[in-house]
Amino acid sequence: MSTQPKKRVGVLISGRGSNMLSLVEAAKAPDYPAKIVVVGSNRPDAKGLEHAAAEGFATFALDHRLYGKDREFFERDLHARLVENNVELLVLAGFLRLLTPWFVSQWQGRMINIHPALLPSFPGLHTHERALKAGVRIHGATVHFVTAEMDVGPIIAQGAVPVLDGDNLNDLATRVLAVEHQIYPMALEAVASGKAVVDGFRVKVKGFDQDDKSLIC
Ligand code: GRF
Repeated sequence: MSTQPKKRVGVLISGRGSNMLSLVEAAKAPDYPAKIVVVGSNRPDAKGLEHAAAEGFATFALDHRLYGKDREFFERDLHARLVENNVELLVLAGFLRLLTPWFVSQWQGRMINIHPALLPSFPGLHTHERALKAGVRIHGATVHFVTAEMDVGPIIAQGAVPVLDGDNLNDLATRVLAVEHQIYPMALEAVASGKAVVDGFRVKVKGFDQDDKSLIC
């Protein structure tokens, strides 16, 4: 078992929180290098908050609508909550707020996100709908470091799924979500253990110089 202290992780959600729960499950393993210390949301009614509380995690909600149009005003409070909980690594798991350069700079290199497409294809919203329209045969999900530009940061892990004849939006979303639940725990493990290191645009995984298939599925 590793002698390194587990990295203290904060998870931010806006909805049902299934990715957050996949991380909760993974973090139950004694040798998992990360420990979730708090789950926060910008939506007080996010279902995932209830799930997190039921699992015994500290939770908080900061309703962004109460902060008006000034995003940084909201983010200052959000940042303060994370600092109060001594969060070292921040994980966005379906957190539907655009972040300002100020917030990103506070967490640069320590904040990761999951996006439901194979970046750099289909950044932004409605990824499954756009993948169906484009007729791609392979779709999937990406975990990446967050940088000031949306859905562009260095890629940590990717998972691919086929797009089948007759797929509807729900079929494809369900297939991609299953792969999200596989790659997010893998990616967080790689980052929290210090094995995944950013080298320019590439995330290199220590200990895997050749033929590294550790962060794809
Ligand atoms: C996931 O598809 C994630 O990739 C996207 O938002 C969705 C969140 O789902 N960013 P959940 O709340 O984790 O179930």
